[in-house]
Amino acid sequence: MSIFTDTMLEWYASHKRELPWRDTSDPYIIWISEIILQQTRVEQGRDYFLRFVGRFPDARTLADASDDEVMTYWQGLGYYSRARNLLAAARAMNGTFPSTYQGVLALPGVGEYTAAAICSFAYGMPYAVVDGNVYRVLARYFGIDTPIDTIPGKRLFAALADEMLDRLHPALYNQAIMDFGATQCVPRSPTCATCPLADSCAALASGRVASLPVKRHRTKTTDRYLYYLYVRAGTYTFIHKRTADDIWKGLFELPLIEATSPLSPDEFLAHPSLQAMFAPGERRELRLVCQGVKHLLSHRVLHADLYEVTLPEDTASFSSFLKIRREALGEYAVPRLVQLLVEAIPPDKSVGDR
Ligand code: ADE
Repeated sequence: MSIFTDTMLEWYASHKRELPWRDTSDPYIIWISEIILQQTRVEQGRDYFLRFVGRFPDARTLADASDDEVMTYWQGLGYYSRARNLLAAARAMNGTFPSTYQGVLALPGVGEYTAAAICSFAYGMPYAVVDGNVYRVLARYFGIDTPIDTIPGKRLFAALADEMLDRLHPALYNQAIMDFGATQCVPRSPTCATCPLADSCAALASGRVASLPVKRHRTKTTDRYLYYLYVRAGTYTFIHKRTADDIWKGLFELPLIEATSPLSPDEFLAHPSLQAMFAPGERRELRLVCQGVKHLLSHRVLHADLYEVTLPEDTASFSSFLKIRREALGEYAVPRLVQLLVEAIPPDKSVGDR
C-alpha cells in the first residue's frame, strides 16, 4: 500500500470521529445519514439523523409515512427534493434495500459518491468515495491542478481515488479520507504543521495549499424578491403547498408575490397577483412586519418582506389557498425562511381580534 493510504488509516485510528451512523452496517441507516450529510454539516446533521431514524427506523416505516410528515422531519435542511427522493426510493424498494452497487446507484437521489459510501460502509465493497473532501485531499497531496468540475478532472480524481483505496478495508479507508478532509486538510488555513503527510505533500512543498483544488466555474447566483402575506382572518390564516418544480417543492408557505427585481410599495400594492388574492370590495390594509430579510440558498439570494393583513374570519379573499387555524401553522413543513418570518410576527392579540 502507498504511504498515503497507510497514513490515512493510521491517522484515522487515533482521530476517528464518533458518529451515530458509524455503529451500524444497516444500508438503510447509512443511506439516510449520507443523504442528510449531503445537506448539512456533521454537527447539525447528527440531530436530524437521530430524529429521522428514530421515527423511520427502516425502509418499510419510511415507505408507509405520508409525504407531509416526512417533510416535517426534513424541515430546515433545505433541498427538499432529497427528502422526496428518499421517500420515493423507500416506497420503490418494498422493504428490501438493494444489495449491489448498480442497484444502490439506481435509487433516486443516489449518485456515485453515495453509492460508494453505502456499498463500502454497509457491504465492505471496494468502491472509493469521491466527495469535496476527497478532491481537496488528493488535489493537495498529489499537487493536481486539473479543475475538479470538468470531465477530465472528474476522471482523473476518480481513478486516483480508486488507486489509493485500501481494497481490504474500503469502509475504514473511505471514512478515514473523509474525516481527514473534514478535520485536518480543511478548506481554509489547514494546520499543515501537525499534518502526518506534511513531508510528502506536493501542495505544501510548492506553496499551493490555498489554491488547490482548482474549480473552473464559479456558480452564478440569482436574486429573487419574495413578498409574503400573513393573514389574520379571525382565528384562521392561509397557506398553500408549493408544487412547481422549483425551490421548496412539497413545502407549505404563506401567500406569496414574487418578483425578479425589488418592487416599490406602490408596485407591490398594485401587483396583479396581489389584487387577485382579494375578493372585490374587501379592505386591503397591509402592514409591513419585516423588510429585506436576506436568505441564501445554494445558487440563489432571496430577499423577503412580510406583510400582515387583517380580514374577517369569513373572508371571501384568499379563496384559492388552504384555510387553517393560525395556531396550526407550526404543524406544516415550511421553508426555514418562512419559519423565520413567521417568528417575527408580533405576538397574537388573538382572543381580542377574533
Ligand atoms: N460526510 C458525508 N458522509 C459522512 C460520513 N459517513 N461521516 C462523516 N462525514 C460525512
